[in-house]
Amino acid sequence: MSIDYALTNEEHLADLDLEQLRQLVGLVEYDGHLDPFPVSGWDALVWIVGNATQTSHFFQSAFGMDLVAYSGPSTGNRDHHAFVLESGAVRFVIKGAVDPASKLIEHQRKHGDGIVDIALSVPDVDKCIKHARAQGATVLSEPHDLSDENGTVRMASIAIYGDTRHTLVDRSRYRGPYLPGYVERTSSYLQRTGAPRRIFQALDHVVGNVELGMMDQWVHFYNRVMGFTNMAEFVGEDIATDYSALMSKVVTNGNHRVKFPLNEPAIAKKKSQIDEYLEYYQGPGVQHLALATNDILAAVDVLVDEGIEFLAIPDSYYEDLELRARIGEVRAPIEELQKRGILVDRDEDGYLLQIFTKPVVDRPTLFFELIERHGSLGFGKGNFKALFEAIEREQNARGNL
Ligand SMILES: [Fe+2]
Repeated sequence: MSIDYALTNEEHLADLDLEQLRQLVGLVEYDGHLDPFPVSGWDALVWIVGNATQTSHFFQSAFGMDLVAYSGPSTGNRDHHAFVLESGAVRFVIKGAVDPASKLIEHQRKHGDGIVDIALSVPDVDKCIKHARAQGATVLSEPHDLSDENGTVRMASIAIYGDTRHTLVDRSRYRGPYLPGYVERTSSYLQRTGAPRRIFQALDHVVGNVELGMMDQWVHFYNRVMGFTNMAEFVGEDIATDYSALMSKVVTNGNHRVKFPLNEPAIAKKKSQIDEYLEYYQGPGVQHLALATNDILAAVDVLVDEGIEFLAIPDSYYEDLELRARIGEVRAPIEELQKRGILVDRDEDGYLLQIFTKPVVDRPTLFFELIERHGSLGFGKGNFKALFEAIEREQNARGNL
């Protein structure tokens, strides 16, 4: 299957061309004829939050997304508000309860604000569900059509880790703004003058945190049920420092449009960051979304102006001669990266720039990564150790290690 075939859903691509997308998220060619569960790309990330009205404003004002569709009491949905936001090829659906008896309230009470559904675009919903069922997946909703005057969407859902799901969506016969039941909606929000048209253009990867001992089980689930292949793994030395232990493996679909790193905690002297997540999210769930941008420096500047907070990177990271030698020439002076706390990693294919926000919800659970790829298909492996060791050198200098 060529990339062209896998990505023909033009409304997903907004005004991105394939070459841009290939560069942004590291696409590869693959033969889909033998794929038992062909996935074209991302359809939407569906959030359940405590206040969808305000969260949707936050994603417009701080992250520069556009409101495009809505469902709620005024459209006949008396249960909840749902705001559909887009930035390039990325679609968020933000849901919050209106009816005090809504089931969404229970999800939000347990998990806090979070992502309930990583919806994927597939060309053949029935084929995927047939294969998933045969491989033992839990089918949460059977293949069914939703129709209105804009056409028909076929969809079905399977369960993944925790209370999270994949809804599989074929919208090739649909022209509406999102799904039947949603109406087109825009907002009067005006971006600041001089702000880039979009802060981010595509989704690169979505990371799941699972319990100790469950990472391999979920890797096998993606291999067996969804035909995903293993892309990278970070165990032992890669991610283990005394203080920040976790293990991670990455699975991907055929064209690498959809990438799922899966983390589990590792035993260390202090509580793993993954354990903290599991405690506050009350189980496994989505930890971070990596948003692909073609200008991470401009993106960070805009986000900082909007009050978004990023993890602070010690100066020692940038002053490390070994790191400087390893990363070589990148598109911006290292001082410009240092000023913003942007990390660099290089591998045999190229390099990437990345940065991490602090949690964007009330609990220490969900955060964003911004990533700008220049050929590298990796996840910043070099930074795991360099970053943590740089932090520990700082600790050592203070006599706290
Ligand atoms: Fe990431």
